Amino acid sequence: MSDTSDSEKSTSAGHKLSGSGHLDAHYLALKEEYEATLRSAGLVAGWSVLDAGAGNGVFLPSMAELLGAEGHIQALDLAPENVAAIETRIASEHFACPIMARTGDMTALPYETGTFDAVWSANATQYLGDEQLSKALEEFRRVVKRGGLVAVKEVDISVWQYQPQDPKLVWRLLDALSDDVQISGAMRGTRVSAWFRTVGLENVSAITTLAERRQPLRSVERQYIRNNLEFLSGLAQTCNLSDADHRQWRVIGEEPERLISDPDFCYREMWVLTLGTVPKR
Ligand SMILES: C[S@@+](CC[C@H](N)C(=O)[O-])C[C@H]1O[C@@H](n2cnc3c(N)ncnc32)[C@H](O)[C@@H]1O
Repeated sequence: MSDTSDSEKSTSAGHKLSGSGHLDAHYLALKEEYEATLRSAGLVAGWSVLDAGAGNGVFLPSMAELLGAEGHIQALDLAPENVAAIETRIASEHFACPIMARTGDMTALPYETGTFDAVWSANATQYLGDEQLSKALEEFRRVVKRGGLVAVKEVDISVWQYQPQDPKLVWRLLDALSDDVQISGAMRGTRVSAWFRTVGLENVSAITTLAERRQPLRSVERQYIRNNLEFLSGLAQTCNLSDADHRQWRVIGEEPERLISDPDFCYREMWVLTLGTVPKR
């Protein structure tokens, strides 16, 4: 895996931290917890599943293993370059079940009503405004069969931390960015269950995971964390912050390794898997 430059962290559709190189680093840095989250969704062997906002397909190998040879996956994403990355994987890797990929918008899904046994969507609804999230969930409900499953894995960056840096440095930055839809969407993970109920999904539940990384960090963890810090430092330049905060973010952006190498460095990230079922009638 190569280093991820700044320009690769956004897609052609303008979604931040969604470029293929960053998605690989993100998944590999948190693989153990991510795969546990996928397993806890309750996908069943033989099911037909839509991966909505599949990115470059990092969840596909494990999902295909869970579904087995009788299963089937449709992977959909808005960014053509991420769909192309999935198609390359399909052509070059062996998957445990058939996978098809296509470009599309999860707020207007190009599938018939009742097509799938389940929808899985990870780290993607955070890019939607509140009304768009309702639209996407209505679409998930529509394309899933009666009694089928909707599973949405979403971050809650109100817990995002890079200590021993003062925790309030991140909080002040997030506060300054509260008008940015992609940032406020990324703070909604804990409350997605309310949207599930509003669109009429049943048996709604949520599973929260707190992932923490301390020394010694693996190289992919360092890369992932470095990407995040460079990203936050870049965002800080666009915000109205105190001179002291601007200075700190500039130093972090220029020398992220200084913070990452601190013996007491602690990275924290939290996400919520929200589950619900489509009413049987
Ligand atoms: C951070 S990536 C996550 C990808 C993958 N699910 C993962 O966990 O690695 C977010 C993805 O959501 C996609 N996305 C954002 N809005 C979308 C929409 N309205 N419809 C379909 N995909 C969307 C982006 O193109 C991007 O590939």
